[in-house]
Amino acid sequence: MKLTPEEQDMLGGKHGNAVRKSMEILTTLGEIFEAECMVDVCSVQVAGVSYANLGEAGLEFLSEMAEDGKVKVLTTLNPAGMDRENWQALGIDEEFARNQIRVIDTFAKMGIITTCSCTPYLVGNVPHFGQHIAWAESSAVCYANSIIGARTNREGGPSALASALTGKTPEYGYHLDENRHGQVLVKVHSQVKGTDGFGVLGKAIGDRLIRLGKNIPFIVGIPSASVEELKSFCASIATYGGTALFHMEGITPEFDRYPKPAGDVFGINQEDLERARSELVDVGLEVDFVSIGCPQASIYEIEKIASLLKGKKVKKELWITTARPIKRMADEAGYSKIIQDAGAKFAADTCCVVAPIKGRFKGMMVDSAKACYYGRATNKFKVKIGTIVECVEEAMK
Ligand code: F3S
Repeated sequence: MKLTPEEQDMLGGKHGNAVRKSMEILTTLGEIFEAECMVDVCSVQVAGVSYANLGEAGLEFLSEMAEDGKVKVLTTLNPAGMDRENWQALGIDEEFARNQIRVIDTFAKMGIITTCSCTPYLVGNVPHFGQHIAWAESSAVCYANSIIGARTNREGGPSALASALTGKTPEYGYHLDENRHGQVLVKVHSQVKGTDGFGVLGKAIGDRLIRLGKNIPFIVGIPSASVEELKSFCASIATYGGTALFHMEGITPEFDRYPKPAGDVFGINQEDLERARSELVDVGLEVDFVSIGCPQASIYEIEKIASLLKGKKVKKELWITTARPIKRMADEAGYSKIIQDAGAKFAADTCCVVAPIKGRFKGMMVDSAKACYYGRATNKFKVKIGTIVECVEEAMK
């Protein structure tokens, strides 16, 4: 790789140990992917925050980086294993809580903003069109590339942290125009709505992409979509199709920047959507846990949940997972009080997948196709997808 004199100094240790280690990680990655040079990034989102995934070995690596490492650009975190302010109410054990706080404090020492969110674009970590960034969470990567038109590969925890400490990333993959073209035309022939509906669509398309061995779809036939529907779609297509970038005619900013794919094409009809939905409902499921907010809930979704719960009581465990700044907005607007008076719980800066709740529940209902996948794979729950209204109704049964 061709490094600038400043980057060579970083690699040579003139900027300290953490920067040297970071440049080693980034140049190794760059060599593997045949990057010619580094590119400056303006925003980072670091994953690998839950102590459940990091363990002591991961924390040791972070502590070493924190000895002299300081972030060069705006950096936020992916969801942690617990809500720092509400972990007791969510049934998290004390030892885990202590360790999770050590992890977050170590990130804070490096100057990272400790908002733990998979929706950084809703809480102030917002790049604009064409900017190079280094984000790690798959749904956020897909949102940044596709909906915002920023440029990021799907980083791992260490490479994202390395970018934060240097302000650099190797220029390959989605940072380059030639890798951002649509590869397959997808014609949607059926109406799609709601966060659950867009999640189901993401699964239907993602499953087909995997069979075709392609991962950048150019999608036509969606007349409009809300931010919430798009964040759900991004999470789902990233999970089921490994997609980090898609184009959607009339909706995403780069849809007319590159030629429409001419070769592969497939359609998605009502039958495909019904099949995908039926695959997100397990037989013999008894719901004892409902979670809304995967990706983490927006203030609009929380307002909707509050209006559904006003003056009512839930009978099942209901979590609203969101980023802390959104929770603060909900507090000020009075939505949190309504939701908590109904017996539902906020799980801020965490989610139903990264929290250590394996085995605590049998059946989980969600409005998210991604949460269905990881609810099964990670937490061994039976799962069921439904609309936000159906989720709230289920919690009150
Ligand atoms: Fe976010 Fe957790 Fe879902 S990280 S996308 S809420 S699995």
